[in-house]
Amino acid sequence: MGLNEAMPVQLEKGCQGLTENRRSLGLYLHVPFCSRPCDYCAFYQVQSDRQGILDYIEGVSREIEILNCDQGIDTCFWGGGTPSLLPAGDLEKLCRLIVDGFGRPRLEWTVEMAPSSVKADKLQILKDCGVNRVSLGIQSLDEGMLDSLGRPHSPKQVLSAYDLIKSFEFDSVNIDLMFAIPGQTPEQLSEDLRNAVALEPDHISTYCLTFEEDTALYVKLSQGKVSIDQELEEQLYRLIWEKLGEAGYEQYEISNYAKPGKQCLHNLNTWRMNEWMGVGPSAASQYKGVRSSNPSDLDKWRDNIDKGLRGTEDRVFLSDDLLLEDSVIFGLRMNEGVDCQLLAQRFDSSKIGQFQERLDTLVADGLGDRSGQHYTLSDKGRLVADAVGAELVGIL
Ligand SMILES: C[S@@+](CC[C@H](N)C(=O)[O-])C[C@H]1O[C@@H](n2cnc3c(N)ncnc32)[C@H](O)[C@@H]1O
Ligand code: SF4
Repeated sequence: MGLNEAMPVQLEKGCQGLTENRRSLGLYLHVPFCSRPCDYCAFYQVQSDRQGILDYIEGVSREIEILNCDQGIDTCFWGGGTPSLLPAGDLEKLCRLIVDGFGRPRLEWTVEMAPSSVKADKLQILKDCGVNRVSLGIQSLDEGMLDSLGRPHSPKQVLSAYDLIKSFEFDSVNIDLMFAIPGQTPEQLSEDLRNAVALEPDHISTYCLTFEEDTALYVKLSQGKVSIDQELEEQLYRLIWEKLGEAGYEQYEISNYAKPGKQCLHNLNTWRMNEWMGVGPSAASQYKGVRSSNPSDLDKWRDNIDKGLRGTEDRVFLSDDLLLEDSVIFGLRMNEGVDCQLLAQRFDSSKIGQFQERLDTLVADGLGDRSGQHYTLSDKGRLVADAVGAELVGIL
């Protein structure tokens, strides 16, 4: 399916087999609690206490009321923070709020989990409520690498959490891996990949470590205690392409690999510049013509919600120019690439022409490939995808 084709949406029970060509709608819920921050992570998260969790759940309930969404959702994704840190009873409350507010997601419902908080009672509740995909933050199966990342679990804990998740037979299980971890050699990454593939998840996300400001690893970087080696990063990227490809995982986005038919629909919906609502502190939305975020602060978010306000930060009205620009940038990050004929069904073709000039330059520089009106990044281009994206900003 091409970049800007509306994702055909499978209708609910009773109408199975029918498809409807409308743009799909996602819901992202940010659950901002972690036991302690990992050394690399800049996602908004705080340590949880009972009252904080209860206030959060109340806030989610009110935010859903404010949204007053009159259409069902196709995908739902709970990220964090660590959704699995919540006790089973709280997970159930959140599930009910989602189902009461939007109905069960029609296609996919993912919940992120961290190995040290995976428990059978939580998995049972999630499964019973309709969650059909679990994403486990493994990062590495090497004790030394987990230590360098400041992860609070051992490889043994990772394996038992994974086995428990598998025993619940969700439709899909993703594992997150990180690479270019300080001190990591290609041999160590190969071993991690071998061990990860042996677990047989149907989806693997592989993230190159980024040194985010205000993290413990960033401080180490600025003190010269660790360093970035771009040549090694490139070698590790290529290693991942090779090893995961050999194991039957198809790359469909810079950081994402899946067995056939197991791509994450929620993320595809986002990258294809469809709509999604974000609920919870720091959650971003692209909904009803506006892109916006909630404050990355539980108290500020709750104050806003109590006043009936959401999406108060970084508000931008979604012009066609902005959507076209992002469709091209995010389209190139996906292996499906950018199909200018399909884009022309949604956007002004003279503006698409302006992008094509730049895309042709990428092709001439060996960073992209062109077939008719269809552009993809070459291997060389994929290694510098962030820089390619930056080049495409502000063309219109
Ligand atoms: C919200 S976390 C995942 C869920 C859970 N909190 C956990 O840590 O297991 C999302 C994922 O983003 C990735 N990530 C976070 N910070 C990163 C960074 N600085 N560089 C690369 N990947 C990062 C990690 O792979 C992590 O699993
Ligand atoms: S990686 Fe996950 S567990 Fe670690 S701080 Fe970030 S959100 Fe929390």
